[in-house]
Amino acid sequence: MFLAAGSALAALTACDPAPPRAAPGSGTGVPTASPYAPAGPLSGSPTATAPATGASGKTATASPTASAPAPFPSAPSPSAPASSAPGRKYSLTDPASPWDVVNKHRPLSPITYVPKDLVQPPVRLAVSGEAALLNSTTAAAAGRMFAAAAAAGVVLTLASGYRSFATQTATYNGYVNSRGRAEADTASARPGYSEHQTGWSFDIGDGGGACSFQPCFAQQPAAVWVKANAYRFGFVVRYPWMEHPTTGYYYEPWHLRYVGVEAAGDMRARGITTLEAYFGLEAAPAYR
Ligand code: DAL
Ligand code: ZN
Repeated sequence: MFLAAGSALAALTACDPAPPRAAPGSGTGVPTASPYAPAGPLSGSPTATAPATGASGKTATASPTASAPAPFPSAPSPSAPASSAPGRKYSLTDPASPWDVVNKHRPLSPITYVPKDLVQPPVRLAVSGEAALLNSTTAAAAGRMFAAAAAAGVVLTLASGYRSFATQTATYNGYVNSRGRAEADTASARPGYSEHQTGWSFDIGDGGGACSFQPCFAQQPAAVWVKANAYRFGFVVRYPWMEHPTTGYYYEPWHLRYVGVEAAGDMRARGITTLEAYFGLEAAPAYR
């Protein structure tokens, strides 16, 4: 894939994808936040049914954004569940640390951080250029995980990896221009607040691009496989279903975050699904 094409694609496939600038329904692969949103964002029951399926059509009618409630910026900030936080083996604030927790209360520091060890992982790429890079530790772990998935008959693709501060600025502004700031904040991090800028996170697709960045991706083999197996390679699904009051984002079954095999396994063993809960940090549903 050409760099220019990759760059353009990266701009369109942020975490995630930038909102469509073309006419609605033009199939730019843009998810709407609303399919993820329970009827009442913060009052929704965690036992609600799984996200809507079959929403791969990206038509205006499948995008009830106009009637969507304002997401969750004004909601009370719940406390993160109690956890027996692990020893602070790694920094929770250094973006070069696998345990750096980035959320709406915790921007990168420095805010324009650039990883020193960006490399292209040995995986199947759906993007090129900057978006095909990860930090070296994440790239190696991704290589192992993608190979294991392939051995199990599941195709994973790297759909969006590293994103610079400048790219995140463009991505976020695209969302704001398309949907308004409140809804943008439910799906795209503001510049300096995205895990993608650390090199520890990336988005996956499946071989055919089915349901890319759409709610129905949760039912695709790629998402089902990583949900069950990513921990073995040190990854967590960073924005789990119905954890938006803690993470600040609706379910993103495609967004993986490297924290290391030990922490990912420990989280799974304890049934803890968010980094905020695992490390005993406050929930971050909205920017301050
Ligand atoms: N979609 C995630 C939150 C990001 O923009 O980093
Ligand atoms: Zn992402």
